[in-house]
Amino acid sequence: MQTKILKKYITKNFWSNKTVLITGINGFIGGNLAKKLVNLNANVIGISNKRLKNKFLFFEGITKSLKFHKIDIKDYSKIEKVLKLYKIDICIHLAAQVDVNIAKVDPYLTLESNVKGTYNLLENLRHHKSIKSIILASSDKAYGEYKVADLPYKENYDLRPIYPYDVSKAAGDMIAKSYASDLFKLPVIITRFANIYGPGQLNFTALIPDCILANTGHRKFIPRGNGTNKRDFLYVDDVCDLYLCLSYNLYKNKNLRGEVFNAGTGHGYTVNEIVEKVCGIYKNNDLYKKISKEFANKSLTGEIQHQFMTYKKLNKYFKWKPQHKLEDGLKETIHWYKRFLKKYKYETFLEDKK
Ligand SMILES: NC(=O)c1ccc[n+]([C@@H]2O[C@H](COP(=O)([O-])OP(=O)(O)OC[C@H]3O[C@@H](n4cnc5c(N)ncnc54)[C@H](O)[C@@H]3O)[C@@H](O)[C@H]2O)c1
Repeated sequence: MQTKILKKYITKNFWSNKTVLITGINGFIGGNLAKKLVNLNANVIGISNKRLKNKFLFFEGITKSLKFHKIDIKDYSKIEKVLKLYKIDICIHLAAQVDVNIAKVDPYLTLESNVKGTYNLLENLRHHKSIKSIILASSDKAYGEYKVADLPYKENYDLRPIYPYDVSKAAGDMIAKSYASDLFKLPVIITRFANIYGPGQLNFTALIPDCILANTGHRKFIPRGNGTNKRDFLYVDDVCDLYLCLSYNLYKNKNLRGEVFNAGTGHGYTVNEIVEKVCGIYKNNDLYKKISKEFANKSLTGEIQHQFMTYKKLNKYFKWKPQHKLEDGLKETIHWYKRFLKKYKYETFLEDKK
């Protein structure tokens, strides 16, 4: 359901003559966003280092409604070549190595993708005359560890990450700030969002998809910690609406350049609570009890203990607030995976290196 406020930003009147570049288009958020933009008749251009086949966009049947370039953002000249083909109005930069488990063993790949990839893109966009609005996906992880008493994070908190993925996001975030400064005046807004869940999340090491696979008997749930760490969860549809809202506003008002926006629900759920909720929807109390026992012997290493944040600033600026309650979002997500896993084996995604 769209509020009156969102209707203002999410309208064909605005989007139908815009050329929008989405980096990481065949990822979870990129796919959902592309679907929305295609429905708004935007001219959607996507880049990603992985092929589209078997991914969200392919499954949703919209690959023919957009232009796709399989390139790696670590390669400056390849971005340059693609940008020469278009007059991009708006860019939403989502491409990143997001798997925390990979970041723990391959920090180099993570830093190259998330740091070098970010300055390669921004430096290219600096020379792209038509660009009016760039939204850069940083993350709540960029803040690093704060005491629970200091949570929720606020936009003016220092970034003090330690772990590789968190550092890579903070570095990209700071680079974007520099490009947005008076020196270059690149129109960039930085987003620091909480954990995102919903249809199309094919990174099966993420908590909710992992838990769904365990409930559908595809594989065993392997706890990463003891279940007490807290995370805040936003539904992907709310996040995509928010990207459209921010892109629209920056396009109309260049004074928003350099602004940072947090988004979360303001509520932290423990991992254990999320597992309980997902198992509850499947009415699988036995699995929940089993996983709870397994949590007992685990400890969380290389990750922040507690994270949550609000949408206060976003609400003040744009009256934005999340539209989906966790329980409703989880049910919609589970419904989507049921359809998806009927068509594709989940192993396809674990092995997809192309
Ligand atoms: N999912 C979340 O919970 C969450 C929360 C906060 C912020 N974010 C940020 O949002 C963005 C999108 O996340 P997501 O969950 O959709 O991730 P995802 O892994 O589903 O998608 C990432 C996309 O980037 C592409 N990519 C990775 N490295 C690349 C490279 N070197 N060159 C070109 N393409 C590359 C991948 O192929 C994929 O299409 C990321 O920047 C992430 O840090 C995500």
